[in-house]
Amino acid sequence: MKIDILTLFPDMFSGVLGESIMKKAQEKVKVTFNVIDFRKYADNKHLKVDDYPYGGGAGMVLMPQPIFAAVDDLTKEKIKKPRIILMCPQGATFTQEKAEELAAEDHLIFICGHYEGYDERIREHLITDEISIGDYVLTGGELAAMVITDSVVRLLPGVLGNEDSPVKDSHSSGLLEHPHYTRPANFNGLDVPEVLLSGNHKNIDLWREKESLRRTLKRRPDMLDKIKLSDQQKKWIKE
Ligand code: ADE
Repeated sequence: MKIDILTLFPDMFSGVLGESIMKKAQEKVKVTFNVIDFRKYADNKHLKVDDYPYGGGAGMVLMPQPIFAAVDDLTKEKIKKPRIILMCPQGATFTQEKAEELAAEDHLIFICGHYEGYDERIREHLITDEISIGDYVLTGGELAAMVITDSVVRLLPGVLGNEDSPVKDSHSSGLLEHPHYTRPANFNGLDVPEVLLSGNHKNIDLWREKESLRRTLKRRPDMLDKIKLSDQQKKWIKE
């Protein structure tokens, strides 16, 4: 997978993409990150990328030319169309489902604005997706692009040590994950649930399934509307 990120602040990405699992992903599987300062595509003498809005009003607007030129350059040898994703608080809210959809692509291009709005022609004639990471406004799309990149890349086969761990994630199954415990079995008088020490894996799986359901019911009951519950799960809910 190739991930291109268009930004005016490329240095913001070095920490996130150069550390931990994102760093390992580039070494272990076929994923390459390419962070590009799109100012270099501006075709004017002062490398200006934004301008005042037609019709007046506050704030600046990102001009279409540098963004179109950058995307043109990044796609010129490609036959298969990439996903061109505009980071924006007006976009569809990002979900685990969207992360899984993007993880199946070969090429993603993120466009990150800062301070400004985008010229509407970018929205109408260039991008394939407009994504928000939540109902709040950031100073720019960079943090949002990092969040999405992280959640997509960790899903690529071979990136996480334990092959099946993304499947058990909170949200992947439609439920929140069950609680975890580790040594010691008693910490300052606080016990680990007995069943986890029993060695009976059938009972452990059942306990985890039930706790996962209980936790979801308590914290995120809205998630239960989106999945089909088994008869056992329906019985547990009534308990
Ligand atoms: N840019 C500014 N705020 C944003 C948000 N919530 N999601 C994605 N991009 C943004």
